[in-house]
Amino acid sequence: MKKLSIKLGALFFLIIFGLETFMFSFLHSNIVESRIEEELLALQARGNSHRSILEKSLDSDTISHVTLMESEANTDVVVTDIKGQVLDSSVPIEYITQYIERSFSSIPRKGQVVEDNWKEESYISTVSLLEINGEPAGHVFMFQNTESIHSLIDRLNEHFLLAGLIAVFLTFIIIIFLSKALAKPLIKMKEATSKISKGDFSVSLPKIRKDELGDLAKSIQLLANDLSYLKQERNDFLASISHELRTPLTYIKGYTNIIHRRNLSIEEREKYVSIILEETNRLSDLVTDLFDLAKIDKNSFVIQKRLIDLSNFMLKIEQKFSPAYQEKNISLVVRCPDDLFIKADPLRLEQIIFNLLDNSIKYSSSGAKTILTVMRNSNQDVQITIKDNGKGIPKKDIPYIFNRFYRVEKSRTRTLGGSGMGLAIVKELVHAHGGTIKVKSEENKGTEFELTFKGEEKR
Ligand SMILES: Nc1ncnc2c1ncn2[C@@H]1O[C@H](COP(=O)(O)OP(=O)(O)OP(=O)(O)O)[C@@H](O)[C@H]1O
Ligand SMILES: [Mg+2]
Repeated sequence: MKKLSIKLGALFFLIIFGLETFMFSFLHSNIVESRIEEELLALQARGNSHRSILEKSLDSDTISHVTLMESEANTDVVVTDIKGQVLDSSVPIEYITQYIERSFSSIPRKGQVVEDNWKEESYISTVSLLEINGEPAGHVFMFQNTESIHSLIDRLNEHFLLAGLIAVFLTFIIIIFLSKALAKPLIKMKEATSKISKGDFSVSLPKIRKDELGDLAKSIQLLANDLSYLKQERNDFLASISHELRTPLTYIKGYTNIIHRRNLSIEEREKYVSIILEETNRLSDLVTDLFDLAKIDKNSFVIQKRLIDLSNFMLKIEQKFSPAYQEKNISLVVRCPDDLFIKADPLRLEQIIFNLLDNSIKYSSSGAKTILTVMRNSNQDVQITIKDNGKGIPKKDIPYIFNRFYRVEKSRTRTLGGSGMGLAIVKELVHAHGGTIKVKSEENKGTEFELTFKGEEKR
């Protein structure tokens, strides 16, 4: 589980450790170099000042005075004549012969470095040229034992080691916190997704971050909420289906039992058989509706669009529906101009209009009026409105009437008896045609459904 933070931490550590090592060794070698350079410059300056004294009076007194002064200091001096003969020295001569025997072509006035290899040699050394009356008269060699330099560098190394250890330790601590802080939200999200995959959608991820990790957390949260909603919806849907199937089945079973057991008159038998037939039809309609909706959900629903002449189409609808309206003493008015066309599947369009007209019959009482109007609106779209002055829909129910199995009157009376699937199918079919559907309704005043489709010109 913590693998990610370990990997991240190790990677950070390696990178920062490498950088630190590089910077420390760069700094170290720079400090050492400039320290040695300083020592050599100081040695050279000291040699030059001895030379100045000796140039004023090059006698044995002055020479021994200079070497005496140097024997008290931690540097050493050797004075030679121009042929290389040692005139005096503050250090045993055998230690330094190898340096003064080297040949020097032209020594500049400020002096010259003889030996700067402090790592391997026992001395670092410089030389200054002695001139009397403009003529070379000898050399002043200065020496410094490299032991003191070694101990200086050792001290420097100790300081570097300590600083390095502290830096590594602090890096380590910081990286532990940093990699944990980085990996923590990822681990939380991983736990959340595995919870979701096990069907538990009650995840809650912190929403404080505003970076990509925050976006990811938001998406996972959204996914969990959507899945939870879908699961709830599926459960409700299954509950409604079983309920809707059970009611007609109970009727069928009950009346079949009655017919089976009792001696009934012909009329009674006729009556019960017709109820059974009605319920069987209802069941079969319900199954067809469910099948249609399932097909729409699966996108396996084929819509075969054709150019439809709406005035013709509506005339046929009027002829088909008039008897049903007459039977309930409701008047149906259809208004459709001649030159309106849309591209739609005629069977599906008929299903849409059928469901809406069916509702206007079911939810209006005798003497009411339904008007079906087709027209072109200001956007050149075709608008179909079906307006009735029936019982209307209560305001609180309007947002739900397109839901599957939603009915305003929850108890299913045998006279009204819908299953609440009609408008759900209408909505899906209208959307499948690229159209929109709107509803306006007022209780006890009436209802108006407004469909909008893209209009077509007749070729
Ligand atoms: N024209 C209308 N007037 C009043 N109420 C309506 C009208 N159309 C729909 N409703 C209300 O909306 C609900 C949902 O309508 P829908 O057509 O989806 O179902 P249904 O008519 O009850 O059943 P089905 O259409 O499946 O036979 C109805 O139960 C009814 O209460
Ligand atoms: Mg209906």
